[in-house]
Amino acid sequence: MSILSLQSVRYSYGNKYQTVEALRDVSCSFEQGLIYAIVGKSGSGKSTILSLMAGLDLPDEGDVFYRGTSTRMMDLDAYRRKHVAMIYQNFRLFPLLTALENVMYPMELQGLRPREAKKRAEEHIRSVDLPETVFNRFPSMMSGGEQQRVAIARALAMDTRLILADEPTGNLDSTNSRNIMALLARLAHERSYCVVVVTHDMSVLDVVDVTYQMRDGRLVKE
Ligand SMILES: Nc1ncnc2c1ncn2[C@@H]1O[C@H](COP(=O)(O)OP(=O)(O)O)[C@@H](O)[C@H]1O
Ligand SMILES: [Mg+2]
Repeated sequence: MSILSLQSVRYSYGNKYQTVEALRDVSCSFEQGLIYAIVGKSGSGKSTILSLMAGLDLPDEGDVFYRGTSTRMMDLDAYRRKHVAMIYQNFRLFPLLTALENVMYPMELQGLRPREAKKRAEEHIRSVDLPETVFNRFPSMMSGGEQQRVAIARALAMDTRLILADEPTGNLDSTNSRNIMALLARLAHERSYCVVVVTHDMSVLDVVDVTYQMRDGRLVKE
């Protein structure tokens, strides 16, 4: 079974004066063990599709299924907290927490004892190829590439296999972009994550297994 699938999804933004059809009959599915890209021009609907996948809102029509259950049937707050790890263009680490504390945070929310959370956080940070010297650094003391790695380690600290990334390389130079994409691909291939990356950076697509093109609210497999 797919970890995530969309069936005939429609979504519009609107008020009484005008409506924008952001997604028009989108169907697709995503499997564990693969890394996907959704590419397309600005305004084509990429962030909208990701926000429905992340349970930030429900489709107007159609369904988003997580492991076979429609998000309509779920408590969306619980879905987001438990099953969706998000990676953002601007990293969104907690500025007043160290790298280690950022990664411990989701495990402490799950009720793990601080000692155990710390031990696992250290393993997660090492597994994204960061040295121990970053453990006690605040985000402001790290490069963009290092911050994005910590954000990925924090995603690994959640008890899920679904990672959704909105322009994860948008603030990185080309070398760091390539390295971050390679790391995300490795998580899919070696640790059975389903990784979905929204991007307009065509230069990072060589590590991706499946590319979808978003065009005027419709999704086409390349
Ligand atoms: N909050 C909003 N209110 C009204 N229209 C919106 C809103 N957010 C996005 N849109 C419109 O929906 C369409 C898709 O937007 P979006 O999903 O953000 O595209 P992308 O991420 O590909 O740039 C665009 O036409 C955009 O202007
Ligand atoms: Mg966007």
